[in-house]
Amino acid sequence: MPFRLSDERERELDVILRRYPTRIAALIPALHLIQDQEGWISDETIHWISQRLDVAPAHVKGVVTFYSLFNQKPVGKHQVWVCRTLPCALRGAGDVLAQCEKKLGIHSGETTANGQVTLRTAECLASCGTAPMMQINKEYHENLTSEKIDRLLSKLMES
Ligand code: FES
Repeated sequence: MPFRLSDERERELDVILRRYPTRIAALIPALHLIQDQEGWISDETIHWISQRLDVAPAHVKGVVTFYSLFNQKPVGKHQVWVCRTLPCALRGAGDVLAQCEKKLGIHSGETTANGQVTLRTAECLASCGTAPMMQINKEYHENLTSEKIDRLLSKLMES
């Protein structure tokens, strides 16, 4: 079945298109809408949005591949990003990542076999003062401890 946005997201896209002075300026919020629905940005959706916004597919692809927040392949139900930039690294980000990998049984960049969690590293998420930290879906989890990580990941694997 060809790609289409849900009716609700179509209405959101209309609002977005009215908000921006040019169609190309609406590209990033439009891509977020697609990713919220599909979980990732496929070649089919790149083609769809390029036609909808009258923007070259190569430009859309360039945006999708430039920003790591856009998924270029299917991901798990939940996404975990462990910040690995210097302030977090100095406060134990390496141990945080190692604990996540061990608990989830995957390496960074992989998804658990049950499709629940995708684990990745991220560059500074602008929460250095509360390092080490990670982002789970759209929420920050800061001042991480081993117990906190264990609790958070257990919850994710069940939900
Ligand atoms: S270095 Fe991790 S939030 Fe800035």
